Amino acid sequence: MINFAQHIPTTIHFGKGQVRAIEVELKKRAKKTLIVTGGGSVKRNGVFDAVIREVKKANIPYTELSGIEPNPRLKSVYKGIDLCRKESVDSILAVGGGSVIDAAKAIAAGVKYDGDVWDFFTKDISPNGALPIGTVLTLSATGSEMNGNTVITKEDTKRKLAIGSPFLKPTFSILDPEYTYTVNRYHTAAGVVDIMVHVFEQYFSKTTASDVQDRLAEGLLKVCLKYGPIVCEKPRDYDARANIMWTGSLALNGVVGDGKKEDWATHAIEHELSAIYDISHGAGLAIVSPNWMKNVLSKETVGRFVDYGINVWGIAKSKDNMAIANESIDKTREFFRLLGMPATLKEVNISDEYFERMAKDAIRDWGQIGYFKKLSTNDIVNILKLSL
Ligand code: NZQ
Ligand code: ZN
Repeated sequence: MINFAQHIPTTIHFGKGQVRAIEVELKKRAKKTLIVTGGGSVKRNGVFDAVIREVKKANIPYTELSGIEPNPRLKSVYKGIDLCRKESVDSILAVGGGSVIDAAKAIAAGVKYDGDVWDFFTKDISPNGALPIGTVLTLSATGSEMNGNTVITKEDTKRKLAIGSPFLKPTFSILDPEYTYTVNRYHTAAGVVDIMVHVFEQYFSKTTASDVQDRLAEGLLKVCLKYGPIVCEKPRDYDARANIMWTGSLALNGVVGDGKKEDWATHAIEHELSAIYDISHGAGLAIVSPNWMKNVLSKETVGRFVDYGINVWGIAKSKDNMAIANESIDKTREFFRLLGMPATLKEVNISDEYFERMAKDAIRDWGQIGYFKKLSTNDIVNILKLSL
């Protein structure tokens, strides 16, 4: 295990009716809040009304920014920053999925910075503060409700870039599994895949003696195998929604990755796909992840796949190591397919047109792609070709 410092400041209010915690949380720190929402789902399913009731109980004036896009755009972030400054807002409440929360985070950091908020994503400049952020999570996937990351797309240049900062960790998050009942099957499945791939990015690592993180990771993956198909088939199953929701938060709040060298190559490649083609992040991961596994599997890395195959998939120990590894990859692909996710780029209308550009951009943006196996541009193009 390698050295680490861990600080998770987010207060989680988990369970039915926990929206009521907003009143106390807002009273602690807000004089005026900006409520950020997406394309309207929270208005249709009643979550927004429930939130507003609590904001009113707290007697905190608010202003609203709606219309945050999936794969949130920089122009919406600029809009939010202007609004905060004009209305003297001192806190942000994000009500939605990862896209809404990520936009809220970028706004929160941008308000405190005199320059262009995009500098944080493209230059060696980090946020030096942010407005406090609260979240009401409505889609289990990104873990953004409990981490300091935000991913924003600049539409004209088709660049989708991520940053992380301790200032962007939400101060509180409301996790009511019932709020995810209305997520459709496609986005539910995409969320489960995203959660699993977050775990993969941290589990497939060369760091040794990280038993705590590794057994936690395997446990989280097994929860996804158990409840993933149920949330897709029975969207109003509380226990299934609750388990997937909490898994999503734990998968990317530091407990699985801190103390390890993490990989993140699959995400780097997927962000290139969703930057250019605006596909759902989880769908892109479902296509790329098994092919990344095929590319990185070697005599040197097979041991980790053996752990994965035996401990997560229950493959017989008696089999040959390479056979276990390959079977674990096949099972991963089949599972994503069972959830209803695409398995090929063709299914989401993506051709090989931009493969070279995507490979170069990914390496340029992320510095190095992959720590479990360092990927070259050729490797990335090969993974994309395998994904066709
Ligand atoms: O926009 P609305 O109308 O709210 O609809 C959304 C959207 O269409 C809908 N939805 C959300 N909650 C719902 C609901 N529909 C019905 N009922 C509900 N309760 O679902 C659609 C997708 O929402 P979105 O927020 O885009 O999904 P997700 O949570 O998967 O977020 C994806 C974004 O997060 C980034 C991704 O790259 C992508 O931009 N990521 C953020 C990370 C982070 N901050 O840590 C890490 C991830 O790896 C990821 O890169
Ligand atoms: Zn992800």
